[in-house]
Amino acid sequence: MKLTNENQAKLTAAMSAVDYIEDGMTVGLGSGSTSAWMVEYLAKRISKENLSIKGVPTSFATKKLAETRGISLTTLDQVDALDLTIDGTDECDKNYNLIKGGGAALLHEKIVAKASKKVIIIADVSKYVNTLGNFPLPVEVIEFGWRFSKTQIELKLLQLGYCNFKIELRMNDKSALKTDEGNLILDLKLFEIKNPAKLTQELNSIPGVVENGLFVDVCNILILGNVNGDVEVCDVLNKKITKKRIDIFKFHEASTR
Ligand code: A5P
Repeated sequence: MKLTNENQAKLTAAMSAVDYIEDGMTVGLGSGSTSAWMVEYLAKRISKENLSIKGVPTSFATKKLAETRGISLTTLDQVDALDLTIDGTDECDKNYNLIKGGGAALLHEKIVAKASKKVIIIADVSKYVNTLGNFPLPVEVIEFGWRFSKTQIELKLLQLGYCNFKIELRMNDKSALKTDEGNLILDLKLFEIKNPAKLTQELNSIPGVVENGLFVDVCNILILGNVNGDVEVCDVLNKKITKKRIDIFKFHEASTR
């Protein structure tokens, strides 16, 4: 991966999060480009410090990358709980609610996050927003009767007072995109989500909906990366924000196996 400015911001957030990983931990490995940097740096730390880490990937893509980089993997069914999960986000609001699923991995991501003692969300600063909803909210639905589920979602949105919205079936070239579980994704262009907690509950009550991309009360620590190497670490529980400088050269210095 090339270190563009955007990637540099993602890398600083990722490196800062990987510093929380300790020897012996079982770690949920998120999906998307920011998480990919986290996997890359984790692999380097494991190799350099001879750490014993087990990873639980949240997508086939992350599994493949982690395997290529020599990270030992396990599954959620083989462990009682995960010590920590590090994952990216598409949006994060000031209450640390998230929209995830831009990479269609929201279902596994939510299960892994919920099974974790601590969740660290990493992103470049542009993902931090006042109100969620500019990024389309992904909803995973089963293929059977998906048009019915879509209509039910439309009705639910109207009931909840959303009037200016659009729902699109996510495509992969000319056919509908399939998630790692073989389901479909409906992207809800809502523009503004006023009550994420209510919406997530309501969406998940619709027949055919497997999960939606709102992650409410999931994030314990938010790490926002900047191009210049500065990160902001927001500790949600203790309501504490600290600024740190990350030395990106540490990434280049460390070698993989
Ligand atoms: C994957 O389905 C998503 O939830 C990603 O975590 C999210 O889209 C962030 O991706 P980037 O790190 O590529 O922006």
